[in-house]
Amino acid sequence: MIISASILAANLLEIGADLKRVKSLGVQRIHLDVMDNHYVPNLSFGLGFCQALKSQQPLPVEVHLMTQPVESTVVQALDAQADWIIFHPETTKSDYHKIVELIRSGGSRVGLALHPNLSLEWLDQVTCQIDQLLVMTVVPGFSGQSFMDHSLNRIKAARRWIDQTQTACELAVDGGVGPNNLLAIADCGVDVAVIGSALFSGDIQQNTLNIKHAMDSDAIY
Ligand code: DX5
Ligand code: ZN
Repeated sequence: MIISASILAANLLEIGADLKRVKSLGVQRIHLDVMDNHYVPNLSFGLGFCQALKSQQPLPVEVHLMTQPVESTVVQALDAQADWIIFHPETTKSDYHKIVELIRSGGSRVGLALHPNLSLEWLDQVTCQIDQLLVMTVVPGFSGQSFMDHSLNRIKAARRWIDQTQTACELAVDGGVGPNNLLAIADCGVDVAVIGSALFSGDIQQNTLNIKHAMDSDAIY
């Protein structure tokens, strides 16, 4: 299981140094939450920030789009050379398959994000190739929320869907992830743990040690 650092909870004035620090934990990716104050009740980063991250530090960037309609931000994310572009299928104006194709033909990897309110039966009609399935374990919009209790069952069901359909995509979880639930999440067959406040809130050094300890205790890597 790898860690993707969600920088929504980070101190932006210190972001360069803090990214170097969490990289020493073994963080392999940056997770950038793009929010529009419409699909979710919060505003966050524009895609210019993705461009800056891509040009000034070495980690790949996954962009999590929480914008509706999503179309124009997908184009901006492609222009910003996001390595992964993850979107919520209900945010498209038309058929979400067109967005999948747009991202793929633009050279980025594509992820589908599942809002906690979206029934997993929705997955039964997905036939296109995707690179990531992102199970939201909080209601999207803010960092620092608690992991929703029933999420482990949804994560397991998402894992089953990937295995049964032999979809060559990674399984990611986002929201309320930290040392207390990393083992349980890894046991569900998760490939990517998105971690925000458990990494960036408070003492980053201590946070990284706590996460490293939680991961080392079961040799998750
Ligand atoms: C929530 C965002 C998450 C959030 C994670 O809408 O998509 O990526 O930043 O933050 P934590 O880990 O604090 O829940
Ligand atoms: Zn996110």
